[in-house]
Amino acid sequence: MTTIGILGGTGPAGRGVAARLANAGCDVVLGSRDSRRANEVAGNLLPRGPGTVSGATNEDAALSTIIIVATPWDSAVATVRSLKSQLVGKTVISKVNALAREGRELVPLYPARGSIAAQITFALPESRVVGAFHHLPAATMEDQDSDLDADVVIFSDHEEDRRLVAEFVNRIEGLRAVIAGSMSLASSIEAFTAVCKSINIRYKSHSYVKLRG
Ligand SMILES: NC(=O)c1ccc[n+]([C@@H]2O[C@H](COP(=O)([O-])OP(=O)(O)OC[C@H]3O[C@@H](n4cnc5c(N)ncnc54)[C@H](OP(=O)(O)O)[C@@H]3O)[C@@H](O)[C@H]2O)c1
Repeated sequence: MTTIGILGGTGPAGRGVAARLANAGCDVVLGSRDSRRANEVAGNLLPRGPGTVSGATNEDAALSTIIIVATPWDSAVATVRSLKSQLVGKTVISKVNALAREGRELVPLYPARGSIAAQITFALPESRVVGAFHHLPAATMEDQDSDLDADVVIFSDHEEDRRLVAEFVNRIEGLRAVIAGSMSLASSIEAFTAVCKSINIRYKSHSYVKLRG
């Protein structure tokens, strides 16, 4: 059985993707530094589909088949590094964006190696890292009454893994996977989140990316 573990899954970004994946029939393990907190958050999610959401420590969530990293950017690398052995041979999805708030805007930060996904790749040489879900507003994902019609831009150096992630994304109602290309696109894709979020602050909206044509 394919389970999806989310590291830092108790935050808005983890909760939103967990609810939608469970609606699509996946069994999701929300990871946390505190399993009690994870259980409480998981218990409140109430997915509407055939899948399940349970709570666990990040260590236990990392035993899942596919892993999503949803911690703040400045703790993502330390978190995955501490779970390196559990993540060997696995698909690890980063949805992490390095952003800083400046007034009414969010601006992209440029971490060493250009992106957080590249940093995670360096920290996990025996895992296969894929980037996805960067541009989706957590509030819309978590609100299961919100209709989605969004594209999820996916990148990785591993063709099979980006196809696997695309298949999961396409199972979620209202999302369409778009494979952009390799890890060399990571910095642009992560940085573009700053544009999306700044637009959302300015217009008090939860807009998302939809590519046409
Ligand atoms: N929010 C959005 O709309 C959105 C959309 C797309 C992508 N993202 C990305 O998704 C990631 C998570 O976003 P978020 O808004 O959910 O963030 P968040 O609420 O600040 O953090 C998510 C979870 O990470 C854990 N965490 C916090 N500090 C940590 C630390 N020092 N070490 C390890 N774990 C820590 C916490 O879980 P525990 O306390 O339970 O361990 C927290 O609930 C970010 O990188 C963000 O850029 C966010």
